[in-house]
Amino acid sequence: MNLNLKNKNALVCGATGGIGKASALALAEEGVNVTLVARNEDKLKSVLEELDQNQNQSHTYLVADFSNPSELENKIKEATQSKAYHILLNNTGGPPGGKISEAKTQEFLAAFNQHLICNHILVQTLLPGMKERGYGRVINVISTSVKQPLDGLGVSNTIRGAVANWSKTLANELGEFGITVNNILPGATATGRLTEIIKNKANKTGKTEEEVTQAMQSAIPAKRFGQPEELANVVTFLASEAAGYINGINVPVDGGRTKSL
Ligand SMILES: NC(=O)c1ccc[n+]([C@@H]2O[C@H](COP(=O)([O-])OP(=O)(O)OC[C@H]3O[C@@H](n4cnc5c(N)ncnc54)[C@H](OP(=O)(O)O)[C@@H]3O)[C@@H](O)[C@H]2O)c1
Repeated sequence: MNLNLKNKNALVCGATGGIGKASALALAEEGVNVTLVARNEDKLKSVLEELDQNQNQSHTYLVADFSNPSELENKIKEATQSKAYHILLNNTGGPPGGKISEAKTQEFLAAFNQHLICNHILVQTLLPGMKERGYGRVINVISTSVKQPLDGLGVSNTIRGAVANWSKTLANELGEFGITVNNILPGATATGRLTEIIKNKANKTGKTEEEVTQAMQSAIPAKRFGQPEELANVVTFLASEAAGYINGINVPVDGGRTKSL
């Protein structure tokens, strides 16, 4: 299959760990010029060195904190003055866990800003370049909670639904410009985020981390956690020319865990 990704430019957010990092590595291997985005500059520099350059790809990074949308907006506007992007991976750290009945209003606002508002700023800033090229791939890393809310992730469940509906509405508007907008819904994926979730569950329930891990894995038809590279494969396909007629969908990558279609 010809993915035809060589010489495309991608802005990959949350690129210093987990799904974002694996996606940056996978896109670079297909010849994409990658701009990494995250908060930790040392980690950004280290991932930058790992990106494939065998096809003369040119990679760079941008330090940005998604808890500060106006700062992100300034930085991304500056970055797009010298470069237009074909691919945007909207991805950042997940909101902290907890029961929705106990969540503070400020937690919803913070998660809404970090996820929906930052995604929106990025799309609006990159949109003129995508329209000009007649090629755009907006890929949002959300969660299977879009289809089936997850216990103990009240704020996250709520904000993920908003992002999914924002995304579907955009897909309807932007399809005619050669731009697709799709969502990846990771199941339990072996990243720093999952390690934290397991630790918290173990603390709250008095079970060992191993017991929590086993219980989580036994609820997944595949009987194992996903690997970030398995998510990155889907990101790469959705970013490609080969996926040009896929628009406005949710792709669960969860080993079959979600019980709904
Ligand atoms: N792993 C799972 O099992 C799973 C399941 C369902 C959904 N998800 C969702 O998928 C997304 C990615 O998950 P992951 O497991 O890959 O997470 P991860 O391993 O924790 O990586 C998160 C990435 O986002 C960056 N980041 C975090 N907070 C940020 C902020 N305020 N501003 C800018 N960048 C920030 C981190 O880099 P810096 O620290 O350098 O900024 C890191 O590169 C999250 O929304 C997560 O909730 C994950």
